[in-house]
Amino acid sequence: RIVKRQIGCRRDINRLNGQFLSLYESLIPAEEEKAKQKQLLLLLEKHVAKEWPEARLYLYGSCANSFGFPRSDIDVCLAMEDADVDKSEVLLKLADILQSDNLQNVQALTRARVPIVKLMDPATGISCDICVNNILAVVNTKLLRDYAQIDVRLRQLAFIVKHWAKSRGVNETYHGTLSSYAYVLMCVHFLQQRRPAILPCLQGMENTYAVTVDSTECAYFDQVEKLSGFGSHNRESIGQLVWAFFNYWAYCHDYANDVISVRTGSMLSKHEKDWTRRVGNDRHLICIEDPFELSHDLGRVVDKFSIRVIREEFERAAEILQCDPDPCVMLFKPYVP
Ligand code: GTP
Ligand code: MG
Repeated sequence: RIVKRQIGCRRDINRLNGQFLSLYESLIPAEEEKAKQKQLLLLLEKHVAKEWPEARLYLYGSCANSFGFPRSDIDVCLAMEDADVDKSEVLLKLADILQSDNLQNVQALTRARVPIVKLMDPATGISCDICVNNILAVVNTKLLRDYAQIDVRLRQLAFIVKHWAKSRGVNETYHGTLSSYAYVLMCVHFLQQRRPAILPCLQGMENTYAVTVDSTECAYFDQVEKLSGFGSHNRESIGQLVWAFFNYWAYCHDYANDVISVRTGSMLSKHEKDWTRRVGNDRHLICIEDPFELSHDLGRVVDKFSIRVIREEFERAAEILQCDPDPCVMLFKPYVP
């Protein structure tokens, strides 16, 4: 494999800021979507409270982490007091209760990897998946939402990267490419690594928020309103950052040895994580440590075929950003197999 040298950024990169910012503006959901989600959540809460008065409902995933696209489905977690509750039993009961209301396509999928109830609410037009006790997802959703409040460039970069990944067909874990969650973590890590840093490492600071989920400690500094000027010493524009992001993953990342870690705000070695060889289906060809579940590599879905696809897409994007006079057209050109 020929690894190209990192090349200096094109001189007119700031010319692209306007286009990237309008793309970002066009991708953020309208405020009334939030209101509709709330309305559906309230309806679900009303039903849940009758059967399980102690239970709570939380939104998680892109509908709550501030990296969601318009008209997305919502992900809801039903948090039960009893951590060892029989999830299938709860979901079947829940489906039964919700069926009786004016909700459509209510289905309990108890054999899925993450068992859920699916439904569609005709009043709001929103589809939703409800899982039970997936508390780590609720906590990592809060972590991403908190990072997003520190510097707007994270949200801008992540929307552009997600839009690129969806257009180019590399946001499909079923086909061995990466989840949206993984791409957002790559963006957080990238901004932690800029000099001066654009984002801090919240898990490396004083803990103002702490929960224990099963036996996993989740703790970090969550008073992010106190960090609003954190990235202001770094004046890099969105154009420069998009260029540098793709350039990094195309030509600078050491795929053979390195693990990206938002938890530590640094690079770890595969050696210290013991992620140097394939174990079961985990091949560790691109390594992204989950911020709380430390044994969890978000790159585990990537196989020897899809790693080539992903890296070639990073190289293609870097090349276009470097050379194309009007890069936005090719960069987001839908991939047709
Ligand atoms: P889109 O639906 O693509 O817009 O993004 P999303 O943010 O909903 O992301 P995704 O569907 O990838 O993940 C949903 C949520 O599941 C994430 O936000 C995490 O909170 C949680 N999650 C925890 N572990 C994993 C994991 O290994 N893979 C994925 N995909 N999600 C995880
Ligand atoms: Mg989702």
